[in-house]
Amino acid sequence: MNYSLRCIRCGREYDGGEVIYTCACGGLLEALLDISSLEIDKREYEGVPLSVWKYKKLIPIEREPITIKEGGTPLYRCKRLGEKIGVKDLYVKHEGLNPTGSFKDRGMTVGVTKSLELGMKTVACASTGNTSASLAIYGAKAGIPVVVLLPGGKVALGKVAQALMHGAKVIEIKGNFDDALEIVRRLCDEEKFYLLNSINPYRLEGQKTIGYEVADELGWDAPDRIILPVGNAGNISAIYKGFRELKELDWIDEIPKMTGIQAEGSAPIVRAFRERKRDIVAEKKPETIATAIRIGDPVNAVKALAAIYESGGMAETVTDDEIIVAQKDLARLEGIGVEPASATSLAGLKKLVEKGEIDRDERIVCITTGNLMKDPEEVVNVCDRPIEVEASLEAVKKALKEM
Ligand code: F0G
Repeated sequence: MNYSLRCIRCGREYDGGEVIYTCACGGLLEALLDISSLEIDKREYEGVPLSVWKYKKLIPIEREPITIKEGGTPLYRCKRLGEKIGVKDLYVKHEGLNPTGSFKDRGMTVGVTKSLELGMKTVACASTGNTSASLAIYGAKAGIPVVVLLPGGKVALGKVAQALMHGAKVIEIKGNFDDALEIVRRLCDEEKFYLLNSINPYRLEGQKTIGYEVADELGWDAPDRIILPVGNAGNISAIYKGFRELKELDWIDEIPKMTGIQAEGSAPIVRAFRERKRDIVAEKKPETIATAIRIGDPVNAVKALAAIYESGGMAETVTDDEIIVAQKDLARLEGIGVEPASATSLAGLKKLVEKGEIDRDERIVCITTGNLMKDPEEVVNVCDRPIEVEASLEAVKKALKEM
């Protein structure tokens, strides 16, 4: 198949074999999928286990993929959590159970494979942590050097550990994620590194499979609403594209309402949504306990806002305290361990239900994007420490009474 990329702003098309991330007009690019030319029937998917590459025909890659078995994450029906929040039909898709512990693997299996297809010699990204961990691991698997730029002191320990152990060149800058992204974009231009942040349209082609999997698991019936955290705003755009394609294929009837949640101290998309704007004003000093989404100038804002408006969705903020409550609820009511950013989806749902903006009868899927073990330091800060006692049965029994 001959793939092309199209600018979402001016419509200009580029050959899919070009190394290009944005249009000459500055607009964001999107991979074009010529649905009408595809020979594909959803019945061929019956009984095939879920994974990113289950949907190979819908992904613009020709060569054998670089894969460590990403996707196929569980979609849990969450009765206890649903009861607590007061909604009837709640599911959580736990993307933290991907091989490197976040949804980024779906994008990286496609993005790193594309880098080899394009003959690139080095891959690079800026990251709040998960992207760099995932890129380090897929780069290692592909045997290609990896360069990552991190905001110094603001990346959760588990994520830095992954990037280091898997052999990436890790550089911490004295600045935030937005600064790191600006630098790495210029670095990639000058050094001919392949940029694998979510501005890369191919990465989003992997992430759109979250939408495919949700619909597939529900018997090709899309939920009423998808709720997820928003940082650089790639994932909400990707999942929306996935559902749009399923609608075009006529495999689902309706596209879910895309609902994006940001942390209060880092919420440019929510502010734009409140003013019904189609683009954002960047936030200079984003701050939140959810370091994964501590982003003031999301590059995919225009795509994300379009996804929200076109699907009839919404955007909402949550406080750090609300994030911690939701993180504990997920862990203690459903056994789902997530990092703070991921808990924003649940915290956002709770808030929107309380405000009367979400119908209690809706079928809702919250996406939990990253694993609890990514951020052990946050856990230590928000949970009670273990109690230390003498090594005797009496001391243990006494301690238990006090807990
Ligand atoms: N949740 C987690 C756990 C993340 O790591 C990220 C993004 C998001 C949500 C937001 O997704 O950017 O597509 O809107 N992390 C990036 C990174 C920025 O560098 O790891 P988004």
